Amino acid sequence: MKRQFELTINGQRHTVRSEPDRPLLEVLREDLELTGTKYGCGEGQCGACTVLVDGNREHACTFPIEKAAGRSILTIEGLARNGQLHPVQQAFLDEQAFQCGYCTPGMILSTVALLERRPRPTDAEIRQWLNANLCRCCGYPRILRAVHRAARLWQR
Ligand code: FES
Ligand code: FES
Repeated sequence: MKRQFELTINGQRHTVRSEPDRPLLEVLREDLELTGTKYGCGEGQCGACTVLVDGNREHACTFPIEKAAGRSILTIEGLARNGQLHPVQQAFLDEQAFQCGYCTPGMILSTVALLERRPRPTDAEIRQWLNANLCRCCGYPRILRAVHRAARLWQR
């Protein structure tokens, strides 16, 4: 049965009527037209749908809307500020760390979560962390460079 949920997405409140077990990804893309979050495997394996929930990575394809209610959700649309790309977005652009770009929103949000925890990660730490995000275009060398560049750009 449908219920009403209050969601905070990219700092904005949204009210959504939905079945409680509906995936957050569907609500983002279909109800709220936030299509930056991508549908890949649909079963928590590829990371294309990665969003941050209270700063933690989650697969929006398997994350039920009832768990998202009342929490702070960050999608790729929420990263840029005042017309300026987030440093991680800028670094991916500078390094051209994408080909088709399908994995990129998830890859970038995953990188944000990594750099929040490890501002200067090693190659090994980056590889291990981004193991959760697949790039079918095999852009991994450029992605690795982009993460290092982002770490330099993102002065906190
Ligand atoms: S679409 Fe969610 S992990 Fe692949
Ligand atoms: S750039 Fe195409 S899947 Fe990563």
